[in-house]
Amino acid sequence: MRFKDKAVVITGAAGGVGKTLVELFAKEGAKIVISDRNEEGCVSVAKAAEELGAKVSVVADDLSEKEYCEAVIKTCVEQFGGIDILLNNAGIIPRGTIEETTDDMWFSAMNVNLNAVFFLCRAAIPHMKKSGGAIVNTSSVWGTYPGPNHVAYCTSKGAVAALTKNLGRDCAPLGIRVNAVCPHEINTPMIRTGFERRGLDPEKAIEALNKTVPIGRIAEPEDIADVIAFLASDQARYIAGECVEVTGAKPVSG
Ligand SMILES: NC(=O)c1ccc[n+]([C@@H]2O[C@H](COP(=O)([O-])OP(=O)(O)OC[C@H]3O[C@@H](n4cnc5c(N)ncnc54)[C@H](O)[C@@H]3O)[C@@H](O)[C@H]2O)c1
Repeated sequence: MRFKDKAVVITGAAGGVGKTLVELFAKEGAKIVISDRNEEGCVSVAKAAEELGAKVSVVADDLSEKEYCEAVIKTCVEQFGGIDILLNNAGIIPRGTIEETTDDMWFSAMNVNLNAVFFLCRAAIPHMKKSGGAIVNTSSVWGTYPGPNHVAYCTSKGAVAALTKNLGRDCAPLGIRVNAVCPHEINTPMIRTGFERRGLDPEKAIEALNKTVPIGRIAEPEDIADVIAFLASDQARYIAGECVEVTGAKPVSG
């Protein structure tokens, strides 16, 4: 029960890692604001968390909107009396080289992957200053090293890593720890739909991808959620401003 009575915001809560985070935090006693643009997904995740005994609040909309980001934090403060933990997990992956990247792909990546993280952190920090807190952002190893042919995604995730290090430095004296997780490939809809779009069978593609990872397989959502939960917990009380790579020892290549 590491998160008993902690007020926690989870973005991208209806996605692969997000769902797993909601379940983990619900099992460990948290009160959870469930945020995702997929309203149906939010409702189903919320129901499962309530069945585990968690108090939840759903706010479904688009993180590209600054007003929505601010409303997510406001909901947490109003419903649960404050905010202890913010997990900036939502993300999108526009795919392409610079010549293939349209204005829309570029701005969408920046809005969802980077600007929303900025707006959510800026809204949460004044509340966290009162009694301490932890923020865990989700970057990517494709942000800290150049992943091939995903220029908008990699740049936005690189900026999330930079934002994390800066906030980690500035917020540590306020009693707020800011860290990031940088995963390599995870078995979630993000990666599976990418294979489907390219006409590949996701099962076979993941089987092939597993062979490229020294530890023997790509990550399951639980492998990443456990690291995020550790960084958010008091067990990580002396870790601040870090970007933790979770890769199964697979380097970025290609
Ligand atoms: N899957 C991977 O291989 C991988 C690798 C490295 C990092 N990541 C990162 O991990 C995080 C979780 O990704 P996942 O693999 O669970 O992906 P996912 O696609 O399963 O989940 C992402 C969730 O974010 C939500 N979302 C997207 N755009 C939104 C918007 N504009 N407003 C509100 N919600 C929005 C989606 O509805 C979805 O539920 C992301 O930040 C992703 O970039 C994933």
